[in-house]
Amino acid sequence: MEKWRAADRLLKFSSRFASGTKLTCTIINYDHTHPLVSECCFFPIPFYCCKSKQGKYFYSVATTVHRNPLFSIISPDDISYFKTLLGERGVVQDALALDAANTDWMGKYRGSSKLLLQPKNTEEVSQILKYCNSRCLAVVPQGGNTGLVGGSVPVFDEVIINVGLMRNILSFDKVIVSGVLVCEAGCILENLISFLDDEGFIMPLDLGAKGSCQIGGNVSTNAGGLRLLRYGSLHGSVLGLEAVLANGTVLDMLGTLRKDNTGYDLKHLFIGSEGSLGIVTKVSILTPPKLSSVNIAFLACEDYTSCQKLLLEAKKKLGGILSAFEFLDSDAMSLVSSTTFLGTENHGQEVIKDKHGQDFTSIDLRALPLEFWYSYASGSIFMENLEAFLLHSVESGLVANGVLAQDINQASSFWHIREGLPEALMKAGAVYKYDLSLPLEKMYDLVEEMRVQIGPAAKVVAYGHLGDGNLHLNISAPAYDDNILAKIEPFVYEWTSKNRGSISAEHGLGLMKAAKIHYSKSPETVRLMIDFDYCVFELLPDTSCLDDNHSIICLCLSA
Ligand code: MLT
Ligand code: ZN
Repeated sequence: MEKWRAADRLLKFSSRFASGTKLTCTIINYDHTHPLVSECCFFPIPFYCCKSKQGKYFYSVATTVHRNPLFSIISPDDISYFKTLLGERGVVQDALALDAANTDWMGKYRGSSKLLLQPKNTEEVSQILKYCNSRCLAVVPQGGNTGLVGGSVPVFDEVIINVGLMRNILSFDKVIVSGVLVCEAGCILENLISFLDDEGFIMPLDLGAKGSCQIGGNVSTNAGGLRLLRYGSLHGSVLGLEAVLANGTVLDMLGTLRKDNTGYDLKHLFIGSEGSLGIVTKVSILTPPKLSSVNIAFLACEDYTSCQKLLLEAKKKLGGILSAFEFLDSDAMSLVSSTTFLGTENHGQEVIKDKHGQDFTSIDLRALPLEFWYSYASGSIFMENLEAFLLHSVESGLVANGVLAQDINQASSFWHIREGLPEALMKAGAVYKYDLSLPLEKMYDLVEEMRVQIGPAAKVVAYGHLGDGNLHLNISAPAYDDNILAKIEPFVYEWTSKNRGSISAEHGLGLMKAAKIHYSKSPETVRLMIDFDYCVFELLPDTSCLDDNHSIICLCLSA
């Protein structure tokens, strides 16, 4: 673990900013995967260097943040400027709307912004950032506010910029070999999924928060989700993007080409940097053609080792038709199938019955929704393969029980169970969430060790994207409690670091994990990231808040 500790270096570096010279910090938070755009600080130290105010948050150990007094406070003149630029509709000061925008989806992170701006196009985003930069006003970009790490809401009184009015589909090339969609950053993911469905294509990205999250937030946070196993990450499917830097400069990288080796491919720096380098305003994305048939199996295994072996078998035997391989343990299953979550019709137990009518939700097993997509023309071959695979898995003892969806309703009920987990946890009380990448063979050891570590005070609920080596470890308790938190952290981060995992597989760093980056990145890597951040902003023209040594720092975040 020591090897990964970069905290000293980080602090030393940040002391450059404690001198009280002029500094503009543009804070950009985004939203991502889940029902969320959030705010977290990628490089939070400069922003927190002021000693004037302390705040303690219940959600993460020793998270103490300070507002940097070098940032200006919004004035009536600022409001007039924004009204002239955006019109009345684009300048939101209404208390209810601000309350919603200041609070993250989980209700864990709360800022105190007095201003939400809603630009209608890239030019307006550019003018907003240029103005905020000249006035030293901190900003936070927000999408659907579905993030899980405190990256999409203000920490203090930052100006919130939401590109939700920028929701046009700009073009779609239907030719099968192309399938390139170009759209504005505020498009809701689910709307893009329906649009493509009508055109005979699919989004390479799907997640539980699709009804609220925006594609700009998805890209800024490199959202993973349920289809990554088959279609890869957004680093592969995003062909180009347009982004606005903190001083208002518009970067047009909105290419639609599959291949372009002319120098650095800078778009990748905006994918997953949680808004720390700028606000994404347009995206071009490669979408695969829709295959006509889909089937889903919901299987139960006796233990984690069988789940792991089943994944390997599925990859070997089913190859290209396997599009998702999810995982939930028995605690997750019993939580989501409880009537409290699913209402009067108890879907969880109704749906998961094998052909003999046996309900296997009550058995202490791990259940896995597996999804398979294949084309109709070759459907019978794939169905035969699939049935042979399932039969063999049962006969060899890898699978203890299971069902294959009989129709589309049953298939969507399976996904409803899996996608309903975050909400079910929220309803169950307090939840400490950890989104980890771990070597597959070690993944469930952490869950079991955490159970021992926590004892009876809380429930450890595990699920995730097994096919991607991504565990969602949730500790569910009746209420937030410092004693429980002290048992979880730093244990969970040290364990992950020791096993060379990542403390954020797909949710980003946000406010929650910005200062924990050293558990997953070497000191040299963190140093280079920070240097790079400075470099980008020191080179910008018109950075009026800067002196010779300081530049705009974008903190940011996303969901
Ligand atoms: C999911 O996979 O359901 C999301 O990443 C949200 C979560 O981790 O709870
Ligand atoms: Zn996930």
